[in-house]
Amino acid sequence: MPVLVEPDPTTVATLLAAMPAGAHGVNAPDRMLAWLDQHPDEYVVVLGPSLSVDAALAACDELRIARPTVSVVLVADALDTSLLTRAMKAGARDVVQSDDVAAIGTAIRQAHQLFQALRGPGGAVQLGRVITVFSPKGGVGKTTMAVNLALALTEGGARKVCLVDLDLAFGDVAITMQLFPTHSIEQAVGSEESLDMALLDGLLTRHQDSLMVLAAPPHPDVRERVTPALVLRILRTLREGFDFVVVDTSPSFDDQVLTALDETDECVIVATLDVPTLKNVKVALETLEMLDIASGHRHLLLNRADDAVGIGADKVESILGMPVSAQVATSIDIAAATNAGTPIVVGDPRHPSSEAIRALAAALTGAPVAPPTPITGAEPAASALGDDKRSGSIFRRKKGFAS
Ligand SMILES: Nc1ncnc2c1ncn2[C@@H]1O[C@H](COP(=O)(O)OP(=O)(O)O)[C@@H](O)[C@H]1O
Ligand SMILES: [Mg+2]
Repeated sequence: MPVLVEPDPTTVATLLAAMPAGAHGVNAPDRMLAWLDQHPDEYVVVLGPSLSVDAALAACDELRIARPTVSVVLVADALDTSLLTRAMKAGARDVVQSDDVAAIGTAIRQAHQLFQALRGPGGAVQLGRVITVFSPKGGVGKTTMAVNLALALTEGGARKVCLVDLDLAFGDVAITMQLFPTHSIEQAVGSEESLDMALLDGLLTRHQDSLMVLAAPPHPDVRERVTPALVLRILRTLREGFDFVVVDTSPSFDDQVLTALDETDECVIVATLDVPTLKNVKVALETLEMLDIASGHRHLLLNRADDAVGIGADKVESILGMPVSAQVATSIDIAAATNAGTPIVVGDPRHPSSEAIRALAAALTGAPVAPPTPITGAEPAASALGDDKRSGSIFRRKKGFAS
């Protein structure tokens, strides 16, 4: 999947539109290097026009030695002989003018041909993993945690992550992230048989820190038209283009959520320290067990874990019969960061809540998730960890759980 390095968000949008569906944008060369560490099958890096010439040429030079199978396409606002000469010397495969959209497309196609020729036939597609954030109760922090977890998983652009809002009637991922989507899952309605990455790509909304969001429909009545088959098709398609697909859910076992749960590799269950929530979480866990959903891959996240109500984490563990994987305290900073459109893991990476969420992200990937500062070393590829478990079809057994 082509990766574009470009600091200016408007230019990112323009250039991504000229690139193949699924192309990924990062805002700095160090993020691109982190991306390449995670994606050994990458074939092209496009360096955007807002990078300084020196930074772009330095990146070319580094890739020429470190990743010879990756073609570098340099996009510049104006071409002159001196730039062309320097670019070729640094190892750029192509230099194109930023307003020549067709030339960018051609350069990427040629890079792909070259890569295939170098690699030879074959080469399996690596599927991404689905992480679902669920709780039978509303208001416990599912959306807040899903948003922050998804951002933590991007590692500032080194991984490609899509956040899907499956709270189809009252989804608030977009508003929580201060996004104003022009499209949502609504435009996929009816595409159970035909949906592909190209169509989905047009429905996603980009958050500043290279996270893509599939928003919930703006009106609750659309929910009925989002069939389980469509949800399944969406998640399976997203797996092919993203390293992680994070699903935020409604607080009920409705058909769509059950379908997502059935397609889930890792399930994060959010609980708070009040008796009604704990009771409902216990029932939900029993239901997951009965349906054989994410068995051995369930992670309990205690939100507002500091609430002084006489129930501690150890009590929760004995009530629910499973260990607490992560604890996040009540903090006005969390709500404030979300309301400002910069969720806490990005806005304040050293905050204890951010550390806790990153630690959970690390547990989910099996790889350490670094704070969003420039990283120099390579992390093990997340996709190399964990088996890709899929259970049988939900359609055989979902009856009786629809809300
Ligand atoms: N740990 C926390 N500390 C303070 N406020 C929180 C915390 N977790 C969630 N919130 C706030 O609680 C409200 C409900 O959270 P939300 O994520 O929308 O819950 P849900 O998706 O489960 O309905 C939001 O206003 C959110 O900012
Ligand atoms: Mg929510």
